[in-house]
Amino acid sequence: MNLLSDEIAAMAANSSWIRKMFEEGIELKKKYGEDNVYDFSLGNPDMPAPAVVGDALRKIADDADKPFAFGYMPNAGFAETRSVLAKLVSREQGVTVSGDRIVVTCGAAGGLNVFFRAVLNPGDEVVCPAPYFVEYKFYAGNFGGKLVPVRSKEDFSLNLEEIEKAITEKTRAFLINSPNNPTGVIYSPTDVAELSELLRRKSAEFGRTIYLIADEPYRFLNFDNVDIPSVFRHYRDSVVIGSFSKSLSLAGERIGYIAVSPELEGAKTLVGGLAMTNRILGFVNAPAIAQKILNAASESQADLEAYRKRRDMMAKVLDYAGIEYNMPGGAFYFFPKSPVPDESLFIQALLNERVLAVPGRGFGMEGYVRLAFCVPEKTITGSAEAFKRAAASLKA
Ligand SMILES: Cc1ncc(COP(=O)(O)O)c(C=O)c1O
Repeated sequence: MNLLSDEIAAMAANSSWIRKMFEEGIELKKKYGEDNVYDFSLGNPDMPAPAVVGDALRKIADDADKPFAFGYMPNAGFAETRSVLAKLVSREQGVTVSGDRIVVTCGAAGGLNVFFRAVLNPGDEVVCPAPYFVEYKFYAGNFGGKLVPVRSKEDFSLNLEEIEKAITEKTRAFLINSPNNPTGVIYSPTDVAELSELLRRKSAEFGRTIYLIADEPYRFLNFDNVDIPSVFRHYRDSVVIGSFSKSLSLAGERIGYIAVSPELEGAKTLVGGLAMTNRILGFVNAPAIAQKILNAASESQADLEAYRKRRDMMAKVLDYAGIEYNMPGGAFYFFPKSPVPDESLFIQALLNERVLAVPGRGFGMEGYVRLAFCVPEKTITGSAEAFKRAAASLKA
């Protein structure tokens, strides 16, 4: 009996690499105990939410007896939250954005689905640099779109020559994620300026709007204080998709937003479309409690210093093991090279040492592995010998 659609049945049979490692992890932890497994597989921040989140929740509880405290609201979100988020985006992008350009969403994941639902026709393509956040393929596919990944250069910067070849009359959007999951790269202002120039040229050539989407859940994790280019300054037809899953450690609360560039012609129509797709996808609106938390906490963030320390510790562990990597400028991932071309052998060697990592092929790039360092410091330091033995076993 077919309980599932053909497509979902096939997807379920090929469950994601991250999921597979998660399940391996549960088994290993049962067998050897939590403290004896070094789990770098999941991007689920262990850092507590800043104190302002708890304070906001207590205040929300005090006001819970007011009528409609948690009732339906406009599909784009509470006016106050939209205006608070507009202030945040204006500061981050260096461009004044008003609240009517913001749609509050169920996380960045909800935002990407809402955006794709609003702008993709079946067969439209979304181009993005590879490696990429694996869910992008599903989000575009949900609405008949197709993700077209383009391999990045060795240092994970944009390969603009290859990107140019990938952009066709079917291209509806280019999707960048900076700081990046899984590489930790932050695209340079030159890369973003040249990409924007290319998109302008291609939009004119094909006579259609090609959107530039900046997926920025990791914007606050900028370890070397570099300039994270503002897409609003570079490209008229752009949107920023943001989230508080990482910056406020609110991943389970599902809260984020889409901000539409103030320069975009017909922005009102686009925002109306986004509010509508938020509704008809069944989100209806983003959660009321999470929006009220943002009203108080949107300018706060989890401890950047603590993440920077972990990054530096992880780099030392990899140096000690003789594993090659590009130092991540942001986010909380390393994407080091496997000591052998087939990274599944490295993943197995790591598993033998009770280290959990995710193969690069899960992100559209073989020969690498992803390590999420949003884990306690003792997991990082404790794993040094295990990494060294795993790498040495392959070199032998
Ligand atoms: C690159 C990227 N985009 C989007 C998301 C989704 O984030 P959210 O929890 O806000 O939906 C994630 C989550 O890990 C991510 O890594």
